[in-house]
Amino acid sequence: MNNEWELLNTDKIGIVGCGHLGEAVAKALVGGGLKKENLLISHRGNPQTYQKLEAQGLASCLAKNERVFSEAKIVLLTVKPQDIPSLKESALSSRALIASCAAGVPLETLEEIFGENVLRIMLSGPDTVADGRGVAAMYPENEALKRLFCLMGLNLIKIRAEHDLDVFTAGVCLTAALLKTESPSEEGRAIEKIGLEYPLLKQLYVWAKDALPEFENKTAKEEYIAKMATKGGVTDAIITSLERGAPLEEALKRGIARTEEISLEIKNSLAAGKSRAT
Ligand SMILES: NC(=O)c1ccc[n+]([C@@H]2O[C@H](COP(=O)([O-])OP(=O)(O)OC[C@H]3O[C@@H](n4cnc5c(N)ncnc54)[C@H](OP(=O)(O)O)[C@@H]3O)[C@@H](O)[C@H]2O)c1
Repeated sequence: MNNEWELLNTDKIGIVGCGHLGEAVAKALVGGGLKKENLLISHRGNPQTYQKLEAQGLASCLAKNERVFSEAKIVLLTVKPQDIPSLKESALSSRALIASCAAGVPLETLEEIFGENVLRIMLSGPDTVADGRGVAAMYPENEALKRLFCLMGLNLIKIRAEHDLDVFTAGVCLTAALLKTESPSEEGRAIEKIGLEYPLLKQLYVWAKDALPEFENKTAKEEYIAKMATKGGVTDAIITSLERGAPLEEALKRGIARTEEISLEIKNSLAAGKSRAT
């Protein structure tokens, strides 16, 4: 174990919402050397989630949200975007650095809910995070989180503006998109083209080529793509676009547009929830 972890192990790390992504983050943290007594995790109470966490040897890390927010120095939020407002009360007196991974929830909204000590992060899918091939982006930048990502084996991709998180979100779907296209010459041409407008996608293409899983057969590959493409989500938008015959660069643009649409939908639904509450 390296000195960085020794240092980090004097503080607790929290994960609120230990579902698919949260569990992968927990695995990466523990796999990287974080002592389980310094990891606090929570979920909403689904028995299946509990069973999965227990099977991973993480049941002893479970705690109520209030405890996670009060004892952890850094809290990663891996709940679905619509569940973010429900965390407000349990985080009221928290002094933790809060990092939200909820796609599309803007920093402005997060600050309204959690105060100033909050930032946005985005990670690649759970499989790459859990096996040390993941990428991450954050906005704004934060040194403690950079260190945490590095120790988790995540490759930090630098972004300049909050909107880049939307591009990043579409870019990490490239693993699924490349499995669908399977034409290196077409891919290269498409990435050169779209890279002029979104240089971030060029960087993520290099990562995605490396992170591509190998499959025993076509069925396993199709199952993997289907698992990544949640209906109505960003990967789904990209894959559907490819299936309809769009070239890769257009499909990726559709993915970015879908991320922006989702952000807007979330903004509107959070605003509607707020006005109902007042
Ligand atoms: N999956 C991905 O590929 C990916 C990649 C990048 C970012 N993200 C982002 O990560 C977030 C989670 O995605 P996911 O796929 O991991 O979703 P998920 O599997 O549904 O996990 C969400 C978890 O949040 C828990 N939860 C809900 N409300 C809670 C509350 N009030 N307190 C504590 N825990 C609560 C749920 O608990 P129960 O299980 O008990 O209901 C569930 O385990 C999303 O915002 C998504 O935008 C996901």
